[in-house]
Order: sequence, then structure tokens, then C-alpha cells
Amino acid sequence: MRHEHIETNSALMLLLILVVISIGGLVEIVPLFYINDTIEKVDGVRPYTPLEMRGRDIYVREGCYLCHSQMIRPFRDEWLRYGHYSLAAESQYDHPFQWGSRRTGPDLARVGGKYSNQWQVQHLKNPQSVVPQSIMPRYPWLLENDLDYSDVGARMRALRATGVPYSLVQQEYDANVKRFGKDIADQLDISQGQESLLKQARDKNFDGLPNRVTEMEALVAYLQVLGTMVDFTKYEEGYFAKFR
Ligand code: HEC
Repeated sequence: MRHEHIETNSALMLLLILVVISIGGLVEIVPLFYINDTIEKVDGVRPYTPLEMRGRDIYVREGCYLCHSQMIRPFRDEWLRYGHYSLAAESQYDHPFQWGSRRTGPDLARVGGKYSNQWQVQHLKNPQSVVPQSIMPRYPWLLENDLDYSDVGARMRALRATGVPYSLVQQEYDANVKRFGKDIADQLDISQGQESLLKQARDKNFDGLPNRVTEMEALVAYLQVLGTMVDFTKYEEGYFAKFR
């Protein structure tokens, strides 16, 4: 009788459905905020350098995530195609994360080091020139636009507020030296943001233009680091080792 009353009264039914779903949701989500190891610590994962971080901004600006995911699922076919499935820790410093829900193009979580810088530049300028059947759009302006890095310090401070360990004071810098080594710690220091961006661009010359720092430079720096932080030979044991 009571059931019939609920099932024939859509407003009441909706209300009760919402109550039941929110209990389920709370039970699943709330504990995650209190468990310290929700994100397992993984060696090698570090925040992006200022240049990579700006590249990531451009990746988001251009909407690359609309066609590319950055999350390899733990299925055999994905593992064979893209490499080890993604770990939560690998997107720990991604705000917002780039897991994505569409794959018009392939997953990019481990694309770093797969191609040369030169290939990446050419591919972004004109994808069809290296992959004739590609439907990816062209991004020629990335080579024409100089990278704006004037606000890199402010961007690092904003990310620091979300928990990314860019250092502002000596203590934080020292902690980073311990965690990531001096080379990386220097690049994570907010007061050095612009200099380390320029230094990385000069040393690596991702865009092939030695005298300029273009948006392409930052984007390629970002693409080349994706999936390269963790040494997976340490983790490829047991089940997955069988497929190698
Ligand atoms: C309209 C959908 C679409 C958009 C938007 C798009 N791509 Fe692609 N992308 C593709 C497709 C399809 C491929 C596979 C063919 C090819 O290699 O060009 C691809 C391939 C790639 C590859 C090579 C991946 C591999 O493992 O071979 C990279 C790197 C890449 N895209 C980066 C980007 C970046 C960076 C952006 C944003 C600036 C972007 N893509 C925007 C569709 C897209």
C-alpha cells in the first residue's frame, strides 16, 4: 500500500531517490577525505616545472582534452597500447585533472618521449603532414605566438594554494630539495619562476627556435613530460609483467 503511494507520487519518489542516492554518495566519498593514503605515494611524481605548467595551460586553452584523454584504464588492451595504467598519484598535481572522457584521438597519458620534439612541433603545426589520415586540427599559431610568462609566479602561487608544493619560503624549498633533489627544487621555487622557465626553454629548445620562447615551446615541454615521471619497471610485476 505504502509502496503504491510512493510510486504514484512522482515528487515524493524523486525526493526519496535523492535521499537514498546521497546516503550512498556520502558513504563512498566522505571517507576519502579522512584517509591519508587515498593517493598512494609514488616515487618520481613531481609538480610541473614553470614551462611545463604553462604548456599545460595552453593544452587546456586549446581544448586538447576534448579529443584526448589522459587516463589509461587497467584493461589489457589499453595496457598493451599505451603502457602501464594510470596511477592516481600521476595526476596529483593536475588542477584541473585531464582524465577526459572522449578519445577522438589516442590517450596522451604516456606520450612523453614517444616522439621527438621536432615531430611534435610538425604534428601540431600540421598533423596531416606527418599522419596523412589524421583528423586533428592544425595549431600553427602556437609557433607564431610568443609565450606570455609574465604571470608565471602568480600562477604558481595559485597552484600552491591548491596543495601543489611550489615553494615560497626557505623551509618549503628545503623540503623540496629533500623530496625532489636540488635541480627540481630550484625550478619549483616561485621567486625563480620566470628564470627557470627561460632556462629550460633555452637548454631544451623544444620548439626548435633558439631565440624565441613560443607557446609551442611550452606545450611540447608539457607533452614530453607526460607519463615519464614514474619508473614503471619497478611496478611492472606480477600480472602485468606477463605481457611484456
Ligand atoms: C578534433 C579532435 C582533436 C583535437 C582537438 C586534438 N587532437 Fe590530437 N589527435 C587527434 C587524432 C584523431 C589523433 C591521431 C592521428 C594523429 O596522430 O594525428 C591525434 C594525435 C595526437 C598526438 C599523437 C599521439 C600518439 O600517441 O600518436 C598528440 C601528441 C596530440 N594529438 C596532441 C594534441 C594536442 C596537444 C592538442 C591540442 C593543442 C590536440 N592533440 C588536439 C585528434 C585531436
